[in-house]
Amino acid sequence: MGSAQRGRSGGNVPVESDGAARPSKITTALTELLGIDHPIVLAPMGDVAGGRLAAAVSAAGGFGQIGGGYCELDYLNREIDLAEGARVGVGFITFSLDQEPSALDIALELGPPAIQLSFGDPRPYVSRIRDAGALLICGVQSPEEVDLALEAGADLLVAQGRDAGGHGRPDVGTMGLIPSVVDRAGSTPVIAAGGIADGRGLAAALMLGAAGVAMGTRFLASVEAISNPNEARMLTALGAFDTVRTDVYDVVRGPVWPEGHDGRVYRSRFVDDWNSEPAHPDEQITDLHDRYFESREDDYSVRPLWAGEGLDLISSIEPAGAIIEAIVAQAIETLGGAGGYLC
Ligand SMILES: Cc1cc2nc3c(=O)[nH]c(=O)nc-3n(C[C@H](O)[C@H](O)[C@H](O)COP(=O)(O)O)c2cc1C
Repeated sequence: MGSAQRGRSGGNVPVESDGAARPSKITTALTELLGIDHPIVLAPMGDVAGGRLAAAVSAAGGFGQIGGGYCELDYLNREIDLAEGARVGVGFITFSLDQEPSALDIALELGPPAIQLSFGDPRPYVSRIRDAGALLICGVQSPEEVDLALEAGADLLVAQGRDAGGHGRPDVGTMGLIPSVVDRAGSTPVIAAGGIADGRGLAAALMLGAAGVAMGTRFLASVEAISNPNEARMLTALGAFDTVRTDVYDVVRGPVWPEGHDGRVYRSRFVDDWNSEPAHPDEQITDLHDRYFESREDDYSVRPLWAGEGLDLISSIEPAGAIIEAIVAQAIETLGGAGGYLC
C-alpha cells in the first residue's frame, strides 16, 4: 500500500501498489463507500446503460448502473434480468419517477448497493432507498441542487458539467463545476461527470477534489452498449466540435424537460436547422416531427446521437473491462508524473 499521491478526493487519494514497483489501484471515498476496486462509475444512461453493460462495468471493478431512463417498466424489468444478479445500481430521471414511482420498487427488489436520482427532487424517495439498505447518489448541476441533495442526505453527489453527453443544464463546464461542488459538499464525496473519457480525465477529476468519475459517452462506445454499426462508426469518428447542446428533440419528440435543461448531441443538419432559428413556428415543428418519425432509428442525420465532449478521446469500441483497465493505468501514470512539476 503506497500513498504517494494526495488530493482532496473525499480525503486522500492513495495509489495502492500490489507489491511490485508500479502502483495498481486508486482508492478514494467512492471506492470505499461502494466497495469497488476502481473509482469509475457507469453513468445511468436510459436505453444505453442496460443490464449487460452495467454487469460488465461492475465485473471489471467499477460501479455499473442500469439507466432507468423514463421509467418504462418493461424495459427496466428486462434490463435487470440481463444483469443476471450482478452487483449493480439503478439511476433514475427523478421527474419521470414522479410519474411512475413503482419503478423504484422494481429497482430496490434487486438489492442494489446504490440508487442514483438526477433531475428533480430526491426527497420523496429517500426513506424507501434507505430502508432497502441502498446508498443515495444525487446528480447535481447547480448550487441549489447541491443544497437539496445534501438536505435529502445524499451519500454521494455526481456533479455533471455542460460538457456531458445527454440531458442536463447548459450553464457550467466540468472543470469549473467540480471544485465548486466539492467545496460546497463538505464531507460528502463528489463524482465528476462530463467530457471525461480517459485516464487523464480521471486524474484531473481527482486533482479537482472529486472522488472518482462517472462516464457516459466512453461506455456508450463499448462492445456491451453499441446498438448498431452506424453508431459505432460515428462515435469513433466524431470529436467534441461535432457536438452541440439543443432542445430540438424535447420539443419535436418529447418528453418535455423542465425549464433550463437541454442536451448535448451530435450536431446533425436536423439539429442545426433548429438551433440556427431563434423562433420556431408551428409549421417547422410539424415538419421536424414528421422527419423524425419517418426516419430509421439508426439514421443519426435525424435521430439523436447523445454524446459528450470526450469524443476526441474515443477511437475504438472496446469491452467495458478493457476501457476501465486502460483508464486506471493511464490515471496512475498521470498521477505519478504529476510530481514532475515540483522542484
Ligand atoms: C446516451 C446518453 C444517455 C443518457 N441518459 C441519461 C439518463 O437516462 N439519466 C441520467 O441521469 N443521465 C443520463 N445521461 C447523462 C449521464 O448520466 C452522464 O452524466 C453523462 O453521460 C456524463 O458525460 P459524458 O457522456 O461526457 O461522459 C445520458 C448520457 C448519454 C451520453
